[in-house]
Amino acid sequence: MPIYVAVPTELTPEERRIALVPDVAGRLVKLGATVLIEKDFGQRAFFPDGAFKDVQIIDTASALYQQADIVLKVNPPTDAEIDQMKAGTIVIGFMSPHRYPERVAKMRDKQITSLAMELVPRISRAQSMDALSSQAAVAGYKAVLQAADLSNVFFPMLTTAAGTIRPAKVLVIGAGVAGLQAIATARRLGAIVEGYDVRSATKEQVQSLGAKFVDTGVKAEGVGGYARELTAEEKQQQQDVLAKHIAAANVVITTAAIPGRPSPKIITRAMVEAMAVGSVVVDLAAEGGGNCELCQSGQTIVHQGVTIHAPLNVPSQMPTHASEMYAKNLFNLLSLFVKNGQLEINWQDEIIAGCTLTHAGEIKHAPTRALVEGTKS
Ligand code: NAI
Repeated sequence: MPIYVAVPTELTPEERRIALVPDVAGRLVKLGATVLIEKDFGQRAFFPDGAFKDVQIIDTASALYQQADIVLKVNPPTDAEIDQMKAGTIVIGFMSPHRYPERVAKMRDKQITSLAMELVPRISRAQSMDALSSQAAVAGYKAVLQAADLSNVFFPMLTTAAGTIRPAKVLVIGAGVAGLQAIATARRLGAIVEGYDVRSATKEQVQSLGAKFVDTGVKAEGVGGYARELTAEEKQQQQDVLAKHIAAANVVITTAAIPGRPSPKIITRAMVEAMAVGSVVVDLAAEGGGNCELCQSGQTIVHQGVTIHAPLNVPSQMPTHASEMYAKNLFNLLSLFVKNGQLEINWQDEIIAGCTLTHAGEIKHAPTRALVEGTKS
C-alpha cells in the first residue's frame, strides 16, 4: 500500500500559510505517495483546490486523519487534531514544544511520531529543510516593507524639481537570517543601512550587503552558531554605543534572539525617547517579548511620536511565497524517508534524529523531555 500524505486546514485563525503547494504535491505523487488535502485548505494562501493535480480532496478533517500516515502542518497540532490522529501517524510541522508541552505529552501517549521543523539541525545537508531560515527570510523582507509604510520619510535618495531628498537611515539590530534579509531589502529600497550583531562573523556578512557594521566591542558567540545572553557590563557597553545610532536612525528593525530565552531587551525607553518624532521601530522579536522595552507584542503603538510596530507571525502576512518555501522544506525532509511510496526511516540519520520530538511512546528531544517529565536533559 502506498503511504498517504495528508494536509488538513490550519485551525489557527490568523494563520494564512499552508503546508503544501501544488508543485510540491506533484513531487510527492512522483515519490509514490497518495496525497490527500482537506477541501479548501489552501484558499487562505491563494491556492484553490483546483490548482492541485492528482490529489484526493477530502471533505472533513476527521475523514482525512483516518486515512493519513503522514500529516503535514504549519502550526502545532491542537488537542482536537491529535485526538483524531491514528496511533503511529507521523506529523510534521512547527511544534513549539516549550509553549505546548501538554500537546507533546499527548502525542507521546498516543504513539504519534512528531517531527519538529524548528529542531531540524542547522547543518549544510539540512539547509534545504531549514524552515526557520526560509520563514525568517520572509519576515526580514516584510519587516522592511512595513517599516517603509509606517515611516514619514522616503527610503531612497530622490533628486526632484522640488529639491533633493536625503535617503532614510535604517539600523538593523540582529544580523541573523531575518536581519540580513532586512538589510538587503532596505538597501534595495535605497536606504543608508547599518547592521549590528554580537556575533563577529556577521560583520563581513553585513558589509557584503552594502551596509555599515556597528561595532560595540561586545562579542557574544554562544553554542551552535547562536548568540549567548550578555552580562550586565556587556549590555551597558552595547547600549552606550548603540544609543547614538538609534537616535540618528529614521527606522530601526530589531531581530535579536537567543534560543530558548526571552528576546534580549536592547532598546530602552530612553533610547526611543531620543529618536526623532516620526521615526519607526519594527520589533521582529515580538514573539519572544520584543527587543524594545516598549514593545507590545502584536500591536502598533506611538510613544512620544515614535511608532513601535511589533508584529506577530510575519511570514503569514506573505502567505503564497512563505507557503511555497515552507512546503519545499517539508518535501526535502520527507524525501529522506519516503522512497517509492513507502516509508524507509533511518532513525540514526542526524537530521531525523535531531528533529524527532516524539516517537514510539517517548519524548526524544531531551530538553522537552526534561520539561514534560521532569527528567534531566
Ligand atoms: P536567531 O533568530 O536566533 O537570532 C537572530 C540574531 O540575533 C542572531 O544573529 C544573533 O546573533 C543576534 N543576537 C542575539 N542577541 C543579540 C544582542 N543582544 N544584540 C544583537 N544581536 C543579538 O538567529 P538565526 O537567524 O536563526 O541564525 C542564527 C545562526 O544560525 C547564525 O549563526 C546563522 O548563520 C546560523 N544558521 C546556520 C544555517 C546552516 O548552517 N544551515 C542556516 C541558518 C542559520
